[in-house]
Amino acid sequence: LTLLTSAGPPPGAGTVHVVWLNFGQYLDWLAGKLRYAVTEWGERVELAPPWKPGEHKALIGPTGLGKTTFAVPILGLRKYVLALDPKGNDSTLSKSGYTRVAELPARGWRSLRGEDQAAWRQIRKDIDEGRPARVIIGGPSRTDEQDNALVRLLSGALTWARHTGGWTVYFDEFELASSQRMMNLRDQIDRMLISARDAGISVVTSYQAQAWVSHHAVRQARKATVWPQDGEMLKAVAQAMGRDWRDVAVACDELPAWHCITVPQGKRGGPMVITRPPDLGG
Ligand SMILES: Nc1ncnc2c1ncn2[C@@H]1O[C@H](COP(=O)(O)OP(=O)(O)O)[C@@H](O)[C@H]1O
Ligand SMILES: [Mg+2]
Repeated sequence: LTLLTSAGPPPGAGTVHVVWLNFGQYLDWLAGKLRYAVTEWGERVELAPPWKPGEHKALIGPTGLGKTTFAVPILGLRKYVLALDPKGNDSTLSKSGYTRVAELPARGWRSLRGEDQAAWRQIRKDIDEGRPARVIIGGPSRTDEQDNALVRLLSGALTWARHTGGWTVYFDEFELASSQRMMNLRDQIDRMLISARDAGISVVTSYQAQAWVSHHAVRQARKATVWPQDGEMLKAVAQAMGRDWRDVAVACDELPAWHCITVPQGKRGGPMVITRPPDLGG
């Protein structure tokens, strides 16, 4: 049985570089339920390995193209999620419906007081009773004082996540957190990226330009997802992922609105995958 629909692969096509998956298929791929895709000309290609615990992902693209919109359903694949919000109050992140807190759990679960502590008490209960826990950590950032509190909060969250373990940690607007001028959490984040894998913690980062963040973010990632952007920036990502940047650039050039390309690590790491998440609505 063949699924050939057109004249066959274009002349000289030895390797399939790009496949398209609808978003349901895309999530199935990451979850390990879909191992093959069928190309336009009916060729069956093996996809890269699924998204394993401890495996990092990087999402890179200009602001407003849908990084956070993409991140939310991806994080939905994981049972325990800490989404760190350096913007303080990202509206797309809020549409996830995750519990938002501006404080970490106080010492000892039993001494929890106040609104955020009540939220943590519920989170703790959910975990104890086998339900998922997905939490956004981030407070207001309008005054200098609030900015400083936010830095302390995110810094504390990194340490807390490392000690409690088991979380998938998502860093939205990662460049804000890692920039020396802004939050200066780069060293802490790098340590987390390196040590997290052994602890089974996956780190997902999203940011606007490779030049602005630690190269660890993309080098430690098994998969990078990119949106159309400057050629030099794509080059840096492709290089870090061990792919020919021209393959990435050509595919990126053709992307319809709201689509992105996921680039698995390594030339033999499987084809790049184009998909489009649904709008979060609300
Ligand atoms: N896949 C999509 N389909 C339709 N609209 C989208 C999609 N992704 C993003 N958008 C629109 O773009 C806006 C910005 O998306 P967002 O995910 O916040 O971008 P980013 O995080 O890259 O800055 C969203 O509020 C939504 O209206
Ligand atoms: Mg965003």
